Amino acid sequence: MRVLGINALFHDPAAALVIDGRTVAAAEEERFSRRKHGKRPLPFSAWELPVQAARWCLAHAGLTPADLDLVGYSFDPALARPADAMGLDDPWDHLRLRYAQEAPGFLAETLPGLDPAKVRFVPHHVAHAASAAYAADGAADPCSVLVLDGRGEATSHLAARRVGTRLEPLAGQQLPHSMGLVYEELTQHLGFLRSSDEYKVMAMASYGTPRMADVLRRHVYPTGDGGFHATAVPWTELAPALAPGQEWTRTHADLAASTQHVLEEVMLDLARWLHDRTGDRLLTLAGGVALNCVANSRIAAEGPFDRVWVQPAAGDAGTALGAALHLAAAGGDQPLPMPGADLGRGWSDAEVEAWLRRARVPYERPADVAAEVAAALADDGIVAWFQGRSEFGPRALGHRSLLAHPGRPANLERLNDVKGREQFRPVAPMVLADRAAKIFEGPLPSPYMLFVHRVTAEWREKIPAVVHVDGTARIQTVDRAADPLTARMLEEFELLTGLPVVVNTSLNTAGRPMVDDVRDALECFGSSPVDLLALGPFVVRRGRMFADPARPGEGSR
Ligand SMILES: [Fe+2]
Repeated sequence: MRVLGINALFHDPAAALVIDGRTVAAAEEERFSRRKHGKRPLPFSAWELPVQAARWCLAHAGLTPADLDLVGYSFDPALARPADAMGLDDPWDHLRLRYAQEAPGFLAETLPGLDPAKVRFVPHHVAHAASAAYAADGAADPCSVLVLDGRGEATSHLAARRVGTRLEPLAGQQLPHSMGLVYEELTQHLGFLRSSDEYKVMAMASYGTPRMADVLRRHVYPTGDGGFHATAVPWTELAPALAPGQEWTRTHADLAASTQHVLEEVMLDLARWLHDRTGDRLLTLAGGVALNCVANSRIAAEGPFDRVWVQPAAGDAGTALGAALHLAAAGGDQPLPMPGADLGRGWSDAEVEAWLRRARVPYERPADVAAEVAAALADDGIVAWFQGRSEFGPRALGHRSLLAHPGRPANLERLNDVKGREQFRPVAPMVLADRAAKIFEGPLPSPYMLFVHRVTAEWREKIPAVVHVDGTARIQTVDRAADPLTARMLEEFELLTGLPVVVNTSLNTAGRPMVDDVRDALECFGSSPVDLLALGPFVVRRGRMFADPARPGEGSR
């Protein structure tokens, strides 16, 4: 079966294509439209569809809309209730529902040849659950799945079990109770952009202590039946609201730490409740809350499951993939684990070279781009690493990455400057998979950067740029078989420096989506102080491209 999945209603619009149970392509609309998160999650933007992503998925597989057997839309308006009946203050929510109801017609309009009768509404949390339970690698059947996000149709959570090609629901939490909405409210209270900057709150939590946890527990607590109470937190009583950009204080960090702590307690309780019912060894996670790698690590360390697997596109983008996998499984196909997160666009060497020539950019083709990049990193250069297909989900995983030397503490500040990020935020390391255990303590392997690890004492001084204030790092392990080129770059870097680790952050500048195509890479390179751009087998050197008055002689390098 050929199934296209669509996420559109709230944010992170995305499309994914599943053929005979196999994930062929998945991409977020933001990578095409160059608008971060695709759109703001407002009721009046609910009609916007991931048109470019959907068209690309089809073109990638050589299909037309008429060739599709089914299209899954990751929201079912029939399950929703009026916002005020759900206790939500959202006066325009009815627009959202109206647009969702019309989605089959809208899709047929934007994908000419598609029969609107082939569009199926997939419940939002079922789509999230399918994106984890069907896409997880390893011995995944049967397995448990926990979904936590801001909201779906009328719930904010689903606990379920995957058995074969079925998802058996076990518990769900009705709105307005929502761990995701509580975290979003705090994000806004701290002066950040809600539904976007939640990871900044998680980073800030490391600077505080959970001294307000008792107060929060009056409003946010597990109810013992697989669900939770989470609403009406009196934020202003706990810490004054911050305007965007306003300096935060110790009190704000303590509030972030307290909320993070209580979130972890609730998630642990839900995991234990679920394990009591299933006894499964594997827990899979999805929903925006599952991007909270600190909470994921606590579930892995203290929860009852042997292994925890998190969908790398755990936010709403992943529901495009989940909707497609769910319909494929329900239709009789055997869903296969996703082959990796590199499910987006990629270019052949010849296509990349044609692009460089067209832009009249001075470039070279070194004998080994991995060795060339390792040498530039060892020489303390900042390198843009553009290789293979782009990542699905919010993390750069060695395909659209910005790399630096982890041994220089100043590189944290330098990278945060390049990217226009707040200085309290950490940058993360990538590490050779077979070296990780001697440097980092935590769930291994960790190919998708969805857990935090404790950096062992002897390594903290060797890689200071990637050690967060609390002594942790959010690592990506790089496996030689899965990503031989990036692994070789790490090996070369280790030969030069003794460190099998490099700093890895996403290739983009502040407020912009990750670089996706070659033009984006050149634009990013042209507007930020990156020393070397590695595009497939080619490299572009800053010194050859631009004369740098601050560094005399650079132009001849
Ligand atoms: Fe969601």
